Amino acid sequence: MQEIKFYSGEDIPLELHKVRIVQKLHLVPIERRLEALKEGGFNTFRLSTLDVFLDMLTDSGTNAMSDNQLAAMMKADDAYAGSQSFARLQKAVEDVLGKKYLLPVHQGRAAENILSVAYVRKGSLVPMNYHFTTAMAHITDKGGAIAELLYDEAYVINSDHPFKGNMNIEKLEEIINYHGPKNIPFIRMEASTNLIGGQPFSVQNLRDVRAIADKYKIRLVLDGSLLGENAFLVLQREEEFKNSNMETVIKTMTGLADICYFSARKLSSSRGGGICTDSIEIFRELEAFIPLYEGFLTYGGMSIREMEAMAVGLYETLDETIISQSPTFIKYLVKQLDDKGIPVIKPAGVLGVHVDAMQICAHIPQTQYPAGSLAAALFLISGIRGMERGSISNQRDEYGNETYADMELVRLAVPRRVFTLSQIKYVEDRMTWLYENRELIGGLKFVYEPPVLRFFMGGLEPVSDWPEKLMAKFKEDFGESL
Ligand code: F0G
Repeated sequence: MQEIKFYSGEDIPLELHKVRIVQKLHLVPIERRLEALKEGGFNTFRLSTLDVFLDMLTDSGTNAMSDNQLAAMMKADDAYAGSQSFARLQKAVEDVLGKKYLLPVHQGRAAENILSVAYVRKGSLVPMNYHFTTAMAHITDKGGAIAELLYDEAYVINSDHPFKGNMNIEKLEEIINYHGPKNIPFIRMEASTNLIGGQPFSVQNLRDVRAIADKYKIRLVLDGSLLGENAFLVLQREEEFKNSNMETVIKTMTGLADICYFSARKLSSSRGGGICTDSIEIFRELEAFIPLYEGFLTYGGMSIREMEAMAVGLYETLDETIISQSPTFIKYLVKQLDDKGIPVIKPAGVLGVHVDAMQICAHIPQTQYPAGSLAAALFLISGIRGMERGSISNQRDEYGNETYADMELVRLAVPRRVFTLSQIKYVEDRMTWLYENRELIGGLKFVYEPPVLRFFMGGLEPVSDWPEKLMAKFKEDFGESL
């Protein structure tokens, strides 16, 4: 992508879009934020946006939509079957992802459900670079298990490895030999590996995985929810693709997979999802589950308008000026925080900035959820809503024991083209204050723990009156400022 230099020499990401529709935000007083936390069980998923200032929970379904996406929504062809909107979506999938057959689903996890229903049995093992919460939940729900096969450097917070999402090829072959290829329904590769900080894999690594999949005749499934960003980082970081373009990289990656599924909430700045393949056999194996779980084969549970937005959004995934915005803002914020000594995942990845609660809250034991505590504390002192990506997001093992996460992260998502640079500066400012006052943050404990995907609706409470003490220090330092 063409670089834009500032005369001052400062490294500032420049917005290559203009704002045409805006939404008012609410920055409520800290006393109200404390009440909101109490009402929401100290779980940022349970906050109302009326109490949230900067919503950095996720980029899922929150990327800004383009004028062309909104315009396309107006020409939606509402039909239960045979909608022209579906034909346009199918064409976009073929043009952008290079796959002929599309099975529409209402969002990414629905694709995970269908793939698991179709292929996972009791005793199945699914090797993957790393799990995503919903992917794992669907596999274990069908009696399967997962094996995470990242290289060790993936878990190093302060790293300069360009492809921490790479799959460990030696371990993959070992595990296939140990469990037997027959017990492995598919290998799952997740683009821009979400839970380790939005870290990409290289095209070469995907080729190596493909070679093993071929050798043992195992399907290769690509989770393409963050495919655009993975492709963008390949252009930046993989020598072979230095002079390539988004279209080539994306098609090269999808071309290596038998099946590509995605959350359109991320990939195409819309909602919805899809499973695509070039194999008529695979299409036939999955086809019957779409009307059973999702909707007819030409809408799959999506609104027709969303399919139009998704089609345009897919084409826009090829536009580097759109796809680069979030990663360059993330890179900027990572640098600012890192310069101040605040531990963040490096190199900067995609989808958000990931701060390391294990280090920041080293005084909070994992049994008291340091990442959940940090996310709650940050909301309290700033109105910024991040997401816990640590042990609360993990699921208990089959015996009901806690499984502590490899990493205790707070993710500050930077959805595409949503925030301005001064808002990012506010995040930097409040995060810095919190870091300097980190000893005041205390732990949390569960008071309500749902049996599945507990992080979504679980309720917690502080183990002491630390939120009140943190609020008092904030008021001491900021006076009447919000
Ligand atoms: N795969 C990946 C890599 C994801 O990041 C997500 C969702 C899914 C699958 C599931 O898709 O939400 O449409 O059902 N990630 C969201 C997030 C929830 O906040 O990171 P979905």
